[in-house]
Amino acid sequence: MFATATPKANPNEIPSDLFGAINKLKKELNAVVLAHYYQEADIQDIADYLGDSLGLSQQAASTNAEVIVFAGVHFMAETAKILNPDKLVLLPDLEAGCSLADSCPPEEFKAFKAAHPDHIVISYINCSAEIKALSDIICTSSNAVKIVNQIPEDQPIIFAPDRNLGRYVSEQTGRDLVLWQGSCIVHETFSEKRIIELKVEHSTAEFIAHPECEPTVLRHADFIGSTTALLNYSQQSQSDKFIVATEPGIIHQMQKAAPDKHFIPAPAMDNCACNECPYMRLNTLEKLYLAMKNKTPEIDVPEDIRLRALKPIQRMLEMS
Ligand code: 13P
Ligand code: SF4
Repeated sequence: MFATATPKANPNEIPSDLFGAINKLKKELNAVVLAHYYQEADIQDIADYLGDSLGLSQQAASTNAEVIVFAGVHFMAETAKILNPDKLVLLPDLEAGCSLADSCPPEEFKAFKAAHPDHIVISYINCSAEIKALSDIICTSSNAVKIVNQIPEDQPIIFAPDRNLGRYVSEQTGRDLVLWQGSCIVHETFSEKRIIELKVEHSTAEFIAHPECEPTVLRHADFIGSTTALLNYSQQSQSDKFIVATEPGIIHQMQKAAPDKHFIPAPAMDNCACNECPYMRLNTLEKLYLAMKNKTPEIDVPEDIRLRALKPIQRMLEMS
């Protein structure tokens, strides 16, 4: 007689009722799922809070949950960890980075900062913890203009890492900003020519755009704002048709909030799906479930960097 071995549980097994399984794990772990609008529709639907980068950091700063499951990209989960060193912060896929954050390496940025010694540094939240630690104030696309407007007129400013948001903020505030030349691969992909063609084809549509887009695209926009601002505008406007120049994940919420309106994603240059963020889209509902079940991948930030990065984030939260 041979003893039959009990089959080992497969740690990567996916249950058929994923929504039910994730909701059960939320209760068991006392976890909150925070998701950005650029996530796939199922993740948006299961999130406890869905928002733009500012809303997500405000939620991360105020949550009582013991575990934060961040359905977004690395710098967002890192910001949540900087604000919550004692909580477990999970990111469904550790490869979910950001081209904009990658476009600002800390050593080069240190040299750039040293070349402008009398400047303060305002950094867009889309940057690494090391860059935050080298910054005086963090901002997002929804509060950048407000924050720059609070800085005394005679105080010179470095704005990093997004040159397009920086240029837009400079125009809105009338301030001369020294810009780090970074950009987002998603927002620089929109084709001005194809947007003009679409505007002609849909003459009643409003064209709304995120400030990370190139100036050649922004100059055609009827409204410019952060993802939350674009969502709110699409609900409040009398128009029933919109051409949307940002990651098309947001259209899921726009359509949910206004089912009778028509939303057209702005096209990329080469007819590719390059307007979808390849980093954001690495997260899936399956990976989110597995991250909660196996409590990994976890985000960690070295304590010396965390403490230096925390100050400019707190300043942003106070100034917003
Ligand atoms: P907001 O969420 O601030 O609109 O930023 C969009 C973005 O690119 C996030 O990576
Ligand atoms: Fe980064 Fe652009 Fe993706 Fe946002 S959309 S996470 S800025 S690469």
